[in-house]
Amino acid sequence: MANKIKTIGVLTSGGDAPGMNAAIRAVVRTAIARGLKVKGIKKGYQGLLNEEIADMEAKDVSDIIQRGGTILGTARCLEFKTPEGQSKGADICRKYGIDGIVVIGGDGSYRGAQALSRLGINTIGLPGTIDLDIACTEYTIGFDTAVNTAMQAIDKVKDTSSSHERCSIIEVMGRNAGYIALWCGIANGAEDVLLPEKFDFNEQSIINNIINSRKKGKTHHIIINAEGIGHSTSMARRIEAATGIETRATILGYMQRGGSPTAKDRYYASIMGAYAVDIMLQGKTNRVVGTRHGEVNDFDIESALNMEKGINDYEYEISRLLAI
Ligand code: ADP
Ligand code: F6P
Repeated sequence: MANKIKTIGVLTSGGDAPGMNAAIRAVVRTAIARGLKVKGIKKGYQGLLNEEIADMEAKDVSDIIQRGGTILGTARCLEFKTPEGQSKGADICRKYGIDGIVVIGGDGSYRGAQALSRLGINTIGLPGTIDLDIACTEYTIGFDTAVNTAMQAIDKVKDTSSSHERCSIIEVMGRNAGYIALWCGIANGAEDVLLPEKFDFNEQSIINNIINSRKKGKTHHIIINAEGIGHSTSMARRIEAATGIETRATILGYMQRGGSPTAKDRYYASIMGAYAVDIMLQGKTNRVVGTRHGEVNDFDIESALNMEKGINDYEYEISRLLAI
């Protein structure tokens, strides 16, 4: 198996994340250093099906480690969820001499990788998502940058919120996962944190918190709301009506997905990208790379997809306790 890999492909899939470029660079340069040929596949599985495939050299990944986004582009591709799309994808890999693919993306992207692996194309997944919602790994590429971007933005909103003695609801990304919200809740010292995994839609308890904190003399009240709960603007209107305290909503949106990656994102994306190539050369396939206690390791995709990740109850409790 180890000798069979001569050419590998690399693609980014699903939502982009800062650090994806550092991962692409590491994959390309490690593969070249190990004597392989590399093909870049544009726009995820859609680009594979459209045969948007080009040779990549070491110089093609120069000057990208510090850039957000992904130079390969990314896409969501419905056709690849079908058996026909998947076997077309595997045929295209064979046509281009691609023996293995490194897929940088989230859970959905690993399902595509799993399908390709079953069809005889070696696949290794790298966890690329700002959401930190991949169960087999403590780290995902992009989370550190995204949470720092959100934290800095929330600090700024907090300044003006205090000056005007307003309540602020700040919505951060995370459709199904509240990790950015939880981390900002703690890092920004928010009074309330609303997570998709925990929120019981009881706005009365938020209203009570606001009234109590005003009584204690707090001049601001910061509520971090995760995208998965949403409705920040209408929630602000209801809170203002119930408390009589001016309440504004700020939705941070896609600024959290962009920007230059932090050192941590560049570092882990680089190490994981290299590791993906090296385990593929050892003959591994259908694996996803992750970290545990800061060390890089890899898991079978099937078992990785079956693992569950939840919000740590203690960390959630502390986020509330520190806001008294
Ligand atoms: P993420 O990888 O960030 O979780 P998505 O869930 O949107 O993002 O998945 C990215 C892409 O992976 C999809 O557009 C599709 O092309 C592919 N994909 C998702 N689920 C499957 C599946 N069950 N089988 C094959 N491919 C899939
Ligand atoms: O996976 C990252 C993420 O930003 C989620 O937090 C969000 O729900 C999703 O992507 C939105 O992606 P898009 O708007 O690009 O479909």
